[in-house]
Amino acid sequence: MSIPNKKVEIFCGTGGVGKTTLATSRAIALSSQGYKVLLITIDPAKRLKQVLGLHDSDSGNIISIETKSFAEVSKSESFDALLLSPSKTLERIGKAEGLEDELDNRILKVLTKPYGGMNEIMAVLEVQFHLENGNYDTIVLDTPPGKHFIDFLEATKKIENFFDKSFVEIFKYLGKKVTGDSAPKKLFGKIVSSGIKKLLSYLEKVTGGDFVDIFIDAVGFLYKCREHFTSAIDFQKELRKKEFSNWFLVTSAEHHKVGEAMSLLQDAQKFMHGDNFLAVNKCLKPFLDNWHPIDKDLKILKSTMLTRENELKVFAGKNFKKVLEFSEILAAEPKEHVTDLAEGWNLLLT
Ligand SMILES: Nc1ncnc2c1ncn2[C@@H]1O[C@H](COP(=O)(O)OP(=O)(O)OP(=O)(O)O)[C@@H](O)[C@H]1O
Ligand SMILES: [Mg+2]
Repeated sequence: MSIPNKKVEIFCGTGGVGKTTLATSRAIALSSQGYKVLLITIDPAKRLKQVLGLHDSDSGNIISIETKSFAEVSKSESFDALLLSPSKTLERIGKAEGLEDELDNRILKVLTKPYGGMNEIMAVLEVQFHLENGNYDTIVLDTPPGKHFIDFLEATKKIENFFDKSFVEIFKYLGKKVTGDSAPKKLFGKIVSSGIKKLLSYLEKVTGGDFVDIFIDAVGFLYKCREHFTSAIDFQKELRKKEFSNWFLVTSAEHHKVGEAMSLLQDAQKFMHGDNFLAVNKCLKPFLDNWHPIDKDLKILKSTMLTRENELKVFAGKNFKKVLEFSEILAAEPKEHVTDLAEGWNLLLT
């Protein structure tokens, strides 16, 4: 069965099962078929960087990658790759709103550090931006492992909560400060609870007198960019549409990994549609099929391993439209894994 590509293809799964490798090989396979592909990694560990030979300084920039450096292709194709950088995303939206001068803010800088808490929200904003600009047929998303993936799915909820009614109320006051009110701190003090007020005054003492002003500026900046945030909320709804997205839950053919995948599926199910795929990576079946031991014990070992792998696939596969199998690649270099797995996707595309 061929798997038609969709606008967004999501690779999720627990740690180390091959999400990054399979996402990269999928991007290669699609681009070698002539599709315009953007591969985005929202994994702060940025393993994609090693696979694609990118550098930290490439973070936040679109980098073109030639498929011929991975696979034997008749004509040279390329795809774009993006290592997500929350600070670059903030810079982009700030510039779009003409707020370049306000970007140099201590709090915004902390929030948009790779582990600053805004990673997933900024990821949703970035994906939405590239979807709207229409430059790509498909955006392939390599997501962070386990719980961080759920954080990504819940990011739009966080956006909704952040820009709720009380935020708008707060900003009514902050807005006065932005338009030159003479006593912003006093006004701000009125609207925050005494607990927050205490905290702010404590932070003001330890971080310098301008802390509250910097805080107000940061919140004001986010408010002025709110449309970028709120338009990203639609992304969540789109993901649930079969015609819009392909979900690939990646696991590897080991007992505990399949168990972990099932538990992740439960957490993520409410965000997915039923048209999803289980990608079982590192399958041993192709090797076992070609292994013909003579020794009785080895024969038993072979048949036990085959049965166990098959049972895992059947057990896990019940919850998916289709199970895709990718074999263990006997090579040391991650790049070779990508090349071989791209072949696997090619077979599924034709
Ligand atoms: N089919 C395969 N055969 C052999 N090795 C593989 C295969 N798929 C992936 N690998 C290797 O397994 C390791 C983990 O793969 P990868 O980084 O893609 O996993 P991941 O799920 O993205 O991990 P993380 O959760 O840390 O982001 C890498 O060294 C990769 O090259
Ligand atoms: Mg990864």
